[in-house]
Amino acid sequence: MPRLLRFCGRLMQDWFDVAKKIESIVAEAAAKAGLDGEVFSPEIRTADPRFGDLQANGALPYAKRQKANPRQVAQQIVAQLEEDPELAKRATLSIAGPGFINFKFKPAFLLDWLNAFSHQTAFRAAASSLHADEKVVVDYGSPNTAKQMHVGHIRSIVIGEAICRMLEFCGAEVVRDNHIGDWGTPYGKLFYAYKRHLDKDALAKDPLEELERLYKLGSELANDETVLEECRQELVELQNGNPDSIALWERVNELSIQGLETIYQQLDVRYDHYLGESFYRDKVEQVYQELNDAGLSKESQGALVVFHPEHPRYAKIPFIVRKSDGASNYATTDLATMLYRLEHFQATSIVIVTDFRQKDHFEQLELTTRKWFEKTGRSMPKFSHVMFGSINGEDGKPIKSRSGDPIRLRDLLAEAIERAARVVREKNPDLPEDELANIARVVGISSIKYADLSQNRSSDYVFAWDKLLSFEGNTAPYLLYAAARINSIFRKLEAEQLESLDAQASPFETPEEIALANKILSVVSVLQSATETLRPHLLGTYLFELAGAFSAFYNANKVIVDETGIKARRLILCQRTLLVLETGLSLLGIPTLKRM
Ligand code: ARG
Repeated sequence: MPRLLRFCGRLMQDWFDVAKKIESIVAEAAAKAGLDGEVFSPEIRTADPRFGDLQANGALPYAKRQKANPRQVAQQIVAQLEEDPELAKRATLSIAGPGFINFKFKPAFLLDWLNAFSHQTAFRAAASSLHADEKVVVDYGSPNTAKQMHVGHIRSIVIGEAICRMLEFCGAEVVRDNHIGDWGTPYGKLFYAYKRHLDKDALAKDPLEELERLYKLGSELANDETVLEECRQELVELQNGNPDSIALWERVNELSIQGLETIYQQLDVRYDHYLGESFYRDKVEQVYQELNDAGLSKESQGALVVFHPEHPRYAKIPFIVRKSDGASNYATTDLATMLYRLEHFQATSIVIVTDFRQKDHFEQLELTTRKWFEKTGRSMPKFSHVMFGSINGEDGKPIKSRSGDPIRLRDLLAEAIERAARVVREKNPDLPEDELANIARVVGISSIKYADLSQNRSSDYVFAWDKLLSFEGNTAPYLLYAAARINSIFRKLEAEQLESLDAQASPFETPEEIALANKILSVVSVLQSATETLRPHLLGTYLFELAGAFSAFYNANKVIVDETGIKARRLILCQRTLLVLETGLSLLGIPTLKRM
């Protein structure tokens, strides 16, 4: 690459994250203006669109603390900012209200930015600086084995996968770990029934279905005291490593994972590891020992527990790390898991995705691990329990199938594809059958995923077929359709017409062009906040707004016009919108369609 180009590229790289760049420029200007750097913080926000694109709000709180006039403080900063030629080329400044400094980007800068990050590789390379040098273990999905997954399992899979993809795109190394529940009490009952009531044909046809039936049967039979005792005996045999028990357990796990994987494939999820509870069973002695040596655990009614006296809640609620019968439990294996992720994977960050009901468990796990690692001279990775609410029916209660059982995930996905086929056929009756089938699969699965990802994960969400399959509103069909529509603009153009657009384009002029260009730039801060808060819906909401800004632009500004400069810059907007839309959707686990 010629030297000058490389130099320009590096300069633009600095401006990739415009909010961050402005933040550092403002901090520098404030220092030059003699403000106290310990007290002043720039506080960059999205501006009131009447005044600008970004806004620095720091003058007001600074003035309050220093008992100064906020407008004067802002003026001092602006006086310094005006000296900066790099900034002057790119933005115009103004002061609003009690001292907010507004930045309005110049159209030529917007065009430069869009040209610098014009394709997937450049965009990805720039984004990968956001979480460089991080290694994140993401524990998601993580169902208990020997059971079908039901609708409740989808949130962890879909949210977890989106988090992995976003982090990876932003430069983190991601380890996808499925921490399956493959050890413990249910196996006693399952084995009891398996040995007496197995239906071999049913097992061959649908392993998870049959294993689940056997487990339920075992649980019912165990209402009888003598059966319960035999179930306990089965469990003891397994825990003591009886070769026959272990062989059966391995077989059950293999079948379980096979069953789970058919669904993961449908959802386009691939794990790096299945390090479930059983993997940690021989690693628990070290945990007892170290917690004891560190003086963190104590005996209570035969059990080993950890209290956190400084905590309002966990001073009283114990974290039970060994049961009174001497057996390990969920807490023990999770403690061992924390250690393994630190030592084996060298994780700088650990993310676990489950529903709200496990809040206490993970808070106690984090507190305990932090103290334990501190006492033993280890570093504590950043820990995030990514929690989510439940999926409710339109009556506000958790959704159930007609029989009252939870809806099987498999059935839910099949129904989504079926319903999507009807919707797509209605909209486009001339599609050939095989293309229709493909589109229906993408639209169906994506709609289910996006129904989840468009909501703030902290709240419960209402599952409604009509809403999630609608072509209107913040839905997968709407976004997929928006992407397909931009694609159709390009299909009509000759390849050579798309070349050298950058050189031909004139700076943006119309309000719709400028609004859309700005929206595209803001993808960086959206990725930033979505990965920092581990909330994929921030990206979803952004994509919906981007599609809206595109519609507004497209309806008001004709793209294929005679004037080369105008046509080129509008085509650039189409192309970059498509790039961001497709990239963003793929980070949410949604593939786009060329037409639908
Ligand atoms: N198997 C658990 C469940 O179904 C979730 C496991 C989450 N991960 C963990 N490390 N505890 O609720």
